[in-house]
Amino acid sequence: MRAYTDEPIARDRLDQILEAGRRSPSSRNWQPWDFVVVTDREQLRELSSVWRGAGHVARSAATIALVAPVPDDGKQRDRLQYDLGQATMSILLAAADLGIGSGHAAVADQRLAAKILGFPADKFCAYLIALGYPADRALAPIRVPARRSFDAVVHWGSW
Ligand SMILES: Cc1cc2nc3c(=O)[nH]c(=O)nc-3n(C[C@H](O)[C@H](O)[C@H](O)COP(=O)(O)O)c2cc1C
Repeated sequence: MRAYTDEPIARDRLDQILEAGRRSPSSRNWQPWDFVVVTDREQLRELSSVWRGAGHVARSAATIALVAPVPDDGKQRDRLQYDLGQATMSILLAAADLGIGSGHAAVADQRLAAKILGFPADKFCAYLIALGYPADRALAPIRVPARRSFDAVVHWGSW
């Protein structure tokens, strides 16, 4: 379970994290993202209902909603997902640098997300990124993370 302390994230730190997202690279530099930042507890609770796996959003200190254009076709959707991934990772790394933990959440109920976040009809909410100071321990690299081994993943020269 992702658990955060009650400590709010100072505005200048949130700005720093959002700035990292804004500066992310994207295909042909189209920058297909807007960030809606939610810090109000009641709004966070409501937002956590957009997907059954988004419960941690309710307990976060702040959540960044990644809002993006509804793609025209499959090709644009692929570019969009790649670029949103890059912006997400920039945000996660900037947060980690400040000792702030993070957790993604998908969004299933787009109508509810639009009602809560107020974005226009030609946009959708792609993902939520919940942020907060970790409750159980200070943020530090995990010695043995739940990942495929280095040798299984890395191929030198050819497969
Ligand atoms: C595209 C994407 C969607 C995700 N959606 C959710 C989600 O809805 N709820 C959640 O708790 N975690 C979500 N995650 C987090 C992943 O489950 C997590 O990064 C992965 O299990 C590795 O966990 P770890 O980084 O804590 O080791 C998502 C991650 C990605 C990349």
